[in-house]
Amino acid sequence: MKTIENISRMSTFVKMMKKEGKSISLVPTMGYLHEGHLSLVKAAKKHTDVVIMSIFINPIQFGPKEDFEKYPRDLKRDEEMAREAGVDVIFYPSLKDMYPEGYATYVTVEKLTGNLCGESRPEHFRGVATVVTKLFNIVKPEVAYFGQKDMQQAMMVKKMASDLNMGVEVKMMPVVREKDGLAMSSRNIYLSDAERRDAAVLYQSLKNAEMLVKNGERDARKVTKAVEDMIKSKQSARIEYVKLVDAGELSDVKMITGEIALAVAVFFGETRLIDNTTIMVK
Ligand code: PAJ
Repeated sequence: MKTIENISRMSTFVKMMKKEGKSISLVPTMGYLHEGHLSLVKAAKKHTDVVIMSIFINPIQFGPKEDFEKYPRDLKRDEEMAREAGVDVIFYPSLKDMYPEGYATYVTVEKLTGNLCGESRPEHFRGVATVVTKLFNIVKPEVAYFGQKDMQQAMMVKKMASDLNMGVEVKMMPVVREKDGLAMSSRNIYLSDAERRDAAVLYQSLKNAEMLVKNGERDARKVTKAVEDMIKSKQSARIEYVKLVDAGELSDVKMITGEIALAVAVFFGETRLIDNTTIMVK
């Protein structure tokens, strides 16, 4: 496995691979890897010759009061985990290389980004769309892998790649969870022991909601209320949103029908966690 820390060297490597007729996949990450990230690598390995994982903590997708400064970093550990999972190249560009002085170009996706996380993090998706565009342009992958853990992000990237004819197939892979159901996240290490125990309620509340719908409940408000009540029973939890949305447009629904997504964002202490599940109702 190679680690390439510079954009022009990455481009040279990509050119070489293309010349040899190799197919390339990209797994964009911000590092501090866990099994969720590695599941994307495993999927990528099945479909392409060369798997490139980017590790870049992208400042422009963090709000001014968010955790850019303290976001966990450990390149050595990431390199070991990535090598073991079969990554061929880690792309680890510097901040200056990605956003040199005078940088001025941003990408916005006007649908899919207004609701859910877009309401409280207005600049976030613009930051993600911009960095992913840059990564796609540098790495020129045929396929890129994203996790359903960040469903709105994956859907936005898919839309962007299609709208802008990027020629990248965007795949969304299932959420990888801890034993108690908590979605794996680099941010889980921020949680105290008590918060970590409380955070398991997210998955339990999603499962309970799935059960309610399976048993015939079609009133979205009743389902979100049940989810909220379960989450509120945990002392360290503070809800940002609990929403049932149309799985295609991500707009709020009142009645549950077709394919819908139940998405939650909840603070445990200072740590904001998100999770979701999709539900199909015939
Ligand atoms: P990061 O949070 O590091 O996540 C990188 C990728 O791993 C994303 O596609 C995310 O959805 C996926 N992922 C994270 N946890 C997962 C889990 N438990 N199960 C399955 N997949 C999971 O998301 C980002 O970085 C950034 O916004 C990025 C796309 C790299 C742009 O900066």
